[in-house]
Amino acid sequence: MILRNVRAHYSTDHGPVVRAVDGVSFSVGEGEVLGIVGESGCGKSTLASVISLTARPPLHVTSGEMILDGDTIALTDQTDIPQDWHGRKVSLLPQRAMNSLNPTARVRDFVVDVVRAHDATVTPQEAIDRALERLEQLSLPSRVLDSYPHQLSGGMRQRVVAVVSTLLDPGVLIADEPTSALDVSSQKELVLLLQLLLERGFIRRVIYITHDLPILSNIAERIAVMYAGEIVEIDETKSMIRSPQHPYTQALIGSTLDPDPHLRGSRLQGIRGAPPDLRNPPSGCRFHPRCPYVMEICTREAPPLVGDPDHFSACWWVQQQLAGKPFEKAEA
Ligand SMILES: Nc1ncnc2c1ncn2[C@@H]1O[C@H](COP(=O)(O)OP(=O)(O)OP(=O)(O)O)[C@@H](O)[C@H]1O
Ligand code: SF4
Ligand SMILES: [Mg+2]
Repeated sequence: MILRNVRAHYSTDHGPVVRAVDGVSFSVGEGEVLGIVGESGCGKSTLASVISLTARPPLHVTSGEMILDGDTIALTDQTDIPQDWHGRKVSLLPQRAMNSLNPTARVRDFVVDVVRAHDATVTPQEAIDRALERLEQLSLPSRVLDSYPHQLSGGMRQRVVAVVSTLLDPGVLIADEPTSALDVSSQKELVLLLQLLLERGFIRRVIYITHDLPILSNIAERIAVMYAGEIVEIDETKSMIRSPQHPYTQALIGSTLDPDPHLRGSRLQGIRGAPPDLRNPPSGCRFHPRCPYVMEICTREAPPLVGDPDHFSACWWVQQQLAGKPFEKAEA
């Protein structure tokens, strides 16, 4: 799957728009889990809405296209996307998905609604049979279909929604903070379920969005770091955690309980300052007001992408480091 140059903003009643996603491009390989991480408000859920084709006003997509299994769609008019893209090509497991279950209906009704919303030719019994088969393949109890949501634990509800959202074998599953409301053991079970869905070929790619870096170190092959609407670094997970290049990635890892046990506790520190207002983001590099390595050029010009499209950092300092050129560290 390839995503090219996605830009999306929220219109507001007064004043400038909120530029929540600004020029995001990346690819996700067959069988790959790509993690997306960043502070609250950096645009992760907005990006999830755009990729899952659910962007609606006041969110407006002004540019971007997605290529999946040889088909290309423009992301700008999300009300005019071919039906087979919904559920079959892309599916969303949203933040607090467990609350998407109707408390007054049994899970089997939810299954029928979801499957038939994407393919009206499927009969209710066929939808139930498909869910039963899938639950069995995943070693989950079939009795959940006859349960009401309140009869299931939060972790089981979330797993059930994950199974139902992937019944049509989507080319890519976008999981937006799928474990944020779960206890630690339910978090692990959901991650294991996603891995099993991938292994069995029921989903072919996962974009896993979170602000929890340690979770990504267990599930993601690569991580994209998002800051103020932009991707500032993408790299293999191990390499990024061992040797982050971009100053924001360094700060993010330093402010996290370190996922690498060899480093745990040795780099714990906060990220100074606050994320910018996306109605009026800083000029040049958006991280410059918070960056310990800021140089004069950073305040004026958007940084270059250093690396290749699948592994890069967007940073003047990284460019100078890799080119071996001397540079002057400005006063922050
Ligand atoms: N409906 C809306 N109208 C205007 N601005 C919005 C709207 N929804 C989100 N935003 C703004 O868009 C930006 C990106 O928000 P988004 O929810 O995508 O961030 P996030 O990275 O998912 O954050 P979190 O980690 O808290 O879930 C934020 O500045 C947010 O305030
Ligand atoms: S471009 Fe400059 S301000 Fe931005 S992260 Fe790199 S060094 Fe810091
Ligand atoms: Mg979010």
